[in-house]
Amino acid sequence: MKLAASISDYRELARRRLPKFLFEYVDGGSYDEVTLRRNRADLQRVALRQRVLRDVSDIDLGIEIFGQRQSMPIALGPIGLAGILARRGERQAVTAAENARIPFCLSTVSACSLAEVADAARAPFWFQLYMMRDRVFVSDLLAQAREQGCSVLVFTVDMPVPGARYRDYRSGLAGAPGLKGAIQRGFQAMQHPRWAVDVGLRGRPHSLGNVAPLLGTKSGLDDFLGWMRGNFDPRVTWRDLEHILSEWTGPLVIKGIFDPEDARTAIAVGADGIVVSNHGGRQLDGVPSTAETLPAIADAVRGELRILADGGVRSGLDVARLLCLGADCVLLGRAWAYALGAGGEAAVRHMLSLFEAELRVALSLTGANRIADLDRRALVR
Ligand code: GLV
Repeated sequence: MKLAASISDYRELARRRLPKFLFEYVDGGSYDEVTLRRNRADLQRVALRQRVLRDVSDIDLGIEIFGQRQSMPIALGPIGLAGILARRGERQAVTAAENARIPFCLSTVSACSLAEVADAARAPFWFQLYMMRDRVFVSDLLAQAREQGCSVLVFTVDMPVPGARYRDYRSGLAGAPGLKGAIQRGFQAMQHPRWAVDVGLRGRPHSLGNVAPLLGTKSGLDDFLGWMRGNFDPRVTWRDLEHILSEWTGPLVIKGIFDPEDARTAIAVGADGIVVSNHGGRQLDGVPSTAETLPAIADAVRGELRILADGGVRSGLDVARLLCLGADCVLLGRAWAYALGAGGEAAVRHMLSLFEAELRVALSLTGANRIADLDRRALVR
């Protein structure tokens, strides 16, 4: 594996290593990608306040969240299809996360099943749930998550229907069912022989472990967006939370909250946390960035539940920025997907060491010793 100094290096390595349909799936956003770009641009505009001569020799990046200590305020967020970015990729990622002592969150639409990840993991991991039309299937999935000892349930609510991603239509991941898409993707795989051998031949890329009962004999890559549209439940409402809470007694995090009123409702239904997220610019294109939206939500819920956030995070400095704007913990999405695609577990481990070092420097140079010191006073307004 080539050495990467930054997440943009990992993005470039992933672009070379992965077949086009996979790189574009990870890298792209919905429609004109306005929100995708806003997430990055607005985050970069958040100006940290440089403070000096404050003895920063005793920095501690640790936090406690949902009853667990972690080494830094970062978690690997749920990513669909992550397990085919490298062979049985979620097994590799959970190991990298455990090594860094941060949580790993498994997506509903992962390659590895809950049981397979539990087999690779040494400690409890988080599980992300989408509401499916088939509620018996959902109950069964929750039962599996309990059985495998998952510690936190992340219920994603910003995708009752998937936003259109033009790049996926162009690459053959969406809208080209059957042989046509398979040939297009197969041709792309042949242009990336390392992936083709490592994952295409040896990694069972067509099976999506958790949703296998909903796929039947169909390949998980066959018109992926169309499959989500057919199986995700657009009728889902706040009332479904009651049902989920009757089957899940551990900490519950609602992911995809992007409005202060919805954040208040999340408290009312008994959520332990929210993820302030526009799904990485992959859903409603045109909404503001996470950086713009987070402060008002933090003001609306402060102290009543834990705030996680994601969107456009590419460095430890970006993590510091979201913490200053009100997050307690930051989910990484594309950052770890690029690293996994570039070099598997070793690259994810290295990527996390980059985040750790960058966050440490961010604390040092803003004159902070503890994560709790990062708030709006650490920003230049
Ligand atoms: C989620 O599964 C996504 O594709 O964004």
